[in-house]
Amino acid sequence: MADHIRKPGILITGANGEMGHGLITRLTAEGKHHIIALDIRPVDASLQPHCDATIVGDILDQRLLERLQSEYEIHCVYHLAALLSTRAEFTPEAAHRVNVEGTLNLLKLAIEQSRWHGQVVQFMFPSSIAVYGLPNREAKQIAGKVKETEWNFPATMYGCNKLYCEHLGRYYASHYRQLAADNTLQGGIDFRSIRFPGLISATTVPSGGTSDYAPEMLHAAAQNKSYACFVREDVRIPFMAMPDAINALLKLQAVSREKLTQSVYNIGSFNPSAGEIRDIVRRAFPKAEITFRPDDKRQAIVDSWPADVDDSAARRDWGWAPEYDQGRAFGEYLIPGIKERYRA
Ligand code: SER
Repeated sequence: MADHIRKPGILITGANGEMGHGLITRLTAEGKHHIIALDIRPVDASLQPHCDATIVGDILDQRLLERLQSEYEIHCVYHLAALLSTRAEFTPEAAHRVNVEGTLNLLKLAIEQSRWHGQVVQFMFPSSIAVYGLPNREAKQIAGKVKETEWNFPATMYGCNKLYCEHLGRYYASHYRQLAADNTLQGGIDFRSIRFPGLISATTVPSGGTSDYAPEMLHAAAQNKSYACFVREDVRIPFMAMPDAINALLKLQAVSREKLTQSVYNIGSFNPSAGEIRDIVRRAFPKAEITFRPDDKRQAIVDSWPADVDDSAARRDWGWAPEYDQGRAFGEYLIPGIKERYRA
């Protein structure tokens, strides 16, 4: 098939999710077009005008993947679709299918695409602090800022899935079918991954994650709803404002391959305790009713995640630096953005 017949584009899976919203909006603002948005549910009306194509479908559906192959010429994939850490614990095998088999399908699609059009397909993959698993609170306290290679013993299905998919991505990029006589399959994809901290957006609310207490607290306060936080006040993990997460994805995507010394990078920004988040939210919304009612099981998941990450490799290799520290994230982005969102 002559490739000019197929429509060129950037494929974004999980388009309706929080990152999907942030990414599609930003790509459009930067004048990048040809977005092919895929989601299991109809793509949100607010995103539709920004997309060249919107596709409703399941990344496990082979017929859908064949359709993508035949209709589109894909040069970059942002594979954002996943079942997050809390939701995945209710249906671990289903989560494995979506998170691992789904990723495998997309990696295969990317390799096939590169064979058709002869160019490298970039594969951007959001990983997570959930790939880390600290055995107890003492170990977490001593560990401090963890490096990419440390404490890779995830305690959740989601964390196991993300960690394994990081390896799959590296395999597909560098070793795919390494014994085949035809070695044109290797180097077909350029896999780049970021281990994101908990993300907080002013415009969307997460669902199914275990870091959700921070955004839930904030969005509840802005709507005058009381909120019972499901982790202890002293618990601490890294967080990031959504614009920085999108900045990071785009920055890593744009850097030349020679600069990269690894395929997976930590990035950090700020890491307040749940109690500190409560204090910030209360200052902005003095009437907010926030209590702490820890759910031991979800608490244990957050206790297994590091209090902070070492992001020196990202800083060194591709110039990562957050634009939003804690003060700016809440003061200039989250609080004003959320007030605006819920303005009556
Ligand atoms: N925010 C995610 C979760 O809580 C972690 O990547 O599942």
